[in-house]
Amino acid sequence: MAVLVTGGTGYIGSVTCVKLLQAGEEVVIADNLSNSDISVTDRIKKITGKNFSFYKADVRDKAAMRDIFAKHKIEACIHFAGLKAVYESISKPLEYYDNNIGGTIALLEIMKEANVKKIVFSSSATVYGNNEPPFSEDMEIGLETTNPYGTTKLFIEKILGDLAISDPEWGVMLLRYFNPIGADESGLLGDDPNGIPTNLMPYIQRVATGKLPKLFIYGNDYETPDGTCIRDYIHVADLARGHINAVYRVRTMSGIDIYNLGTGTGYSVLDIVKTFMKVNDIDVPFEYAPRRDGDVVTSFCDPTKAKREIGFTTEKTLDDMCRDSYNFIKKLTN
Ligand code: NAD
Ligand code: WQD
Repeated sequence: MAVLVTGGTGYIGSVTCVKLLQAGEEVVIADNLSNSDISVTDRIKKITGKNFSFYKADVRDKAAMRDIFAKHKIEACIHFAGLKAVYESISKPLEYYDNNIGGTIALLEIMKEANVKKIVFSSSATVYGNNEPPFSEDMEIGLETTNPYGTTKLFIEKILGDLAISDPEWGVMLLRYFNPIGADESGLLGDDPNGIPTNLMPYIQRVATGKLPKLFIYGNDYETPDGTCIRDYIHVADLARGHINAVYRVRTMSGIDIYNLGTGTGYSVLDIVKTFMKVNDIDVPFEYAPRRDGDVVTSFCDPTKAKREIGFTTEKTLDDMCRDSYNFIKKLTN
């Protein structure tokens, strides 16, 4: 029985495929390559020495997806596929609603047709909005998403909740990721977005490799110990391992469960920059700039539910995250 991984050649999906293959799972990837490259499939094979099936397919293309379900005995799906750029979503809301929400509904319809009713969904800490940290899964959400991307995650969570109520055969797991950074330990898989990055670590990577002159730190007058915003950064390899725990659980579950995937520890922007410089022995020039619209001051999770119920805890340190991010970008640019 196989696990279908939509978006499996993307940043988080590719590292998750490595962990799935290393855990002995059969993997089928469906990705339209809109934000990833086919060469990722070779890199996954190189790291794991294992084979898997890859389909260049859009999850909204029902005929293509139906074909995949007909060819493989799929027992569960990890659904990563979607658009994820917060700022782009503000100027292209329809594309985001169509791809993320339309794509999820199309996938669920094909899963239902194929009688595959177990799904793990990539949600985001963004759904917590301006709640008071530490964020826990039982908090009320939905009052204040600040961009269409975040709204797609919120709506998809609702849709999956309604689906789980409609039929007890559905087992749905919502994973709320905090801030994934770092790269696969091999240095072959990581995050290097197209265009000028808006996320912190990809931007630091560009400065460290001389592609951009300096980092702008958005705001140093927040009410935090050093004045910069605080986030719960999680190593992508830890995050990927969390999906193994989730798949093991979703196989036999009925209904819906929500889990935070984060470390539970917050670090400031300055902590990240200083740690990156220290562990990699490299300068990252920066200057303070005005606050960025829509940024929450402090975000970190309560990770105890994931530990208690699916046995997930993180292992990597901030040093590991910064070292692996640089290792990846150095390899890519050499
Ligand atoms: P990514 O862009 O690297 O990966 C997404 C993959 O999905 C890409 O390979 C892309 O080609 C593919 N894709 C997009 N639309 C598709 C479609 N319609 N059909 C088939 N494939 C499609 O992003 P990522 O960082 O790996 O994120 C994976 C998931 O996790 C996304 O759903 C994202 O919203 C969510 N998430 C990411 C973060 C983060 O900071 N990276 C945080 C929280 C949640
Ligand atoms: C982190 C901190 C910035 C860039 C976003 C999405 C969220 C999730 C993760 C998908 C903030 C500061 C950043 C820069 C900076 N993605 N920063 N200079 O905003 O916490 O979350 O990515 O679901 O939904 O909103 O992450 O990496 O953009 O920013 O000072 O050039 O770094 O202000 O404090 P964020 P980020």
